[in-house]
Amino acid sequence: MAKFSSSDEKSGVENGGDFKVDVFSSSSELLSKLQEKGLGKPKPYPAMYSSVFGGIVLDPAMMVLPIDDHMVHRGHGVFDTAIILDGYLYELDVHLTRFLNSASKAKIVSPFPKSTLRSILIQLTSASKCRKGTLRYWLSAGPGDFLLSPAGCPTSAFYAVVIEENFSQCKEGVQVVTSKIPMKSPLFATMKNVNYLPNVLAKMEAEEKGAFASIWVDEKGYVAEGPNVNVAFITRENDLILPFFDTILSGCTALRLLQLAPKLVEQGRLKSVRIGNLTMEEAKGAKEMMYVGSTLPILPIIMWDEKPIGDGEVGELTMALSDLLWEDMVAGPETQRFPVPFL
Ligand SMILES: Cc1ncc(COP(=O)(O)O)c(C=O)c1O
Repeated sequence: MAKFSSSDEKSGVENGGDFKVDVFSSSSELLSKLQEKGLGKPKPYPAMYSSVFGGIVLDPAMMVLPIDDHMVHRGHGVFDTAIILDGYLYELDVHLTRFLNSASKAKIVSPFPKSTLRSILIQLTSASKCRKGTLRYWLSAGPGDFLLSPAGCPTSAFYAVVIEENFSQCKEGVQVVTSKIPMKSPLFATMKNVNYLPNVLAKMEAEEKGAFASIWVDEKGYVAEGPNVNVAFITRENDLILPFFDTILSGCTALRLLQLAPKLVEQGRLKSVRIGNLTMEEAKGAKEMMYVGSTLPILPIIMWDEKPIGDGEVGELTMALSDLLWEDMVAGPETQRFPVPFL
């Protein structure tokens, strides 16, 4: 896609009359052009599945969606992810359960039962030969027409893609800011639908201020979540507190953290583990603070609105929680990790 820039202005491209649009009269001609473009900067997408194709494609030039898909032009779709680590898919079933719950809230009936979705995702990951990365997948009302009602979209669609990514445990702390972008209402925040414009703007507003990401605070003044992550706090009394999930996305990583963190209570390092409401003032007074999400799994937060959290250093308990989750990802029980054949 061409982007307009000031250098274009100098070179005269702004003169619409001089702009020549290519017309591709055959799909093979377009495919050659796309493949040629892809050679310059190869994309780290080794495989994609599309129910519209009815199979897996390995050529990134072919990883496309129909423009009349209701998800593309009306945002009528839901999505989820899973981490691929050392030949395993971490927490695939938990993510699939949330995925189908989101679909049901968005009134999208999956074209396949859960067991088939799982099987497609495992075969896709296997075909991708990717051992470290993310698996992203979408359920859409499907292609049909361009109207508001999905009545003209006869079959829902399932798409998935594998992305090679080299992530590792986060050891450096980041800065965050309070978001001024309005939070989504609970119906839309609790379902992982593709309308992430508020989330994108919340991330951009933080980046514009030199911060990593932002924090949403709800209308009652309670801390909610980040743009694609949950948040957690360690109080000065060593309680681990995560905000309630009734108005935000219930993060798979946050839920796993709540299951694993009691180990630190047994060791006497944490006093308690619970979910609860925290006002912004209480949260800013915490000893430690962190983002919690699939690809992190924990990211220490050391400054909020330019003020240090605790002593402004990466917290010791934050890193102990990060170790618990990381160990679970790399060597946890197979109830948490799905082995992918041939990986
Ligand atoms: C808005 C939002 N909150 C929280 C999360 C964290 O969820 P998870 O731990 O499942 O990645 C995500 C990411 O999916 C998200 O998009």
